[in-house]
Amino acid sequence: MIRKYGRDILASDKFRQARGQIHHYRTSVASHSIKTAISGLKLCSILRRMGISVDARMVVRTALLHDLGMVGRSDLYRNNYECCMKHPGNSASISRQICSEIDEKSLAAIESHMWPLSVHMPGSKEAFVLCMADKIASVKDLIYIKRGKR
Ligand SMILES: [Fe+2]
Ligand SMILES: [Fe+2]
Repeated sequence: MIRKYGRDILASDKFRQARGQIHHYRTSVASHSIKTAISGLKLCSILRRMGISVDARMVVRTALLHDLGMVGRSDLYRNNYECCMKHPGNSASISRQICSEIDEKSLAAIESHMWPLSVHMPGSKEAFVLCMADKIASVKDLIYIKRGKR
């Protein structure tokens, strides 16, 4: 489903660059983004069983795009705090370049994915799922690092 919904993003130059961008110490932005998409799909499935429908395509696509603003972070941001605050907006700008058809709802979801660290609160079910999936994937990244795995 990730390939089906996100083929164009996965094939983009920026996503290729994301494979070489270290994230959470030992993983890459690309690997973390794919894990976020997987966690997002699992959350969609849980919510569906509860009778709550969520746009899985949007969750996958925003998950693949949400951290692309981190590519080249050492040149773009002065420190981790600045990176934390500014990368969602830059990810949204990059998303417009990669996906010319992207809608405002998806861009808003990308911009709010760092909530509650940022002031932008998720404004849709999909944005909330992206935000939670990102947290789950980040915790998994850090646990795998502790175990010495990727
Ligand atoms: Fe992020
Ligand atoms: Fe992330």
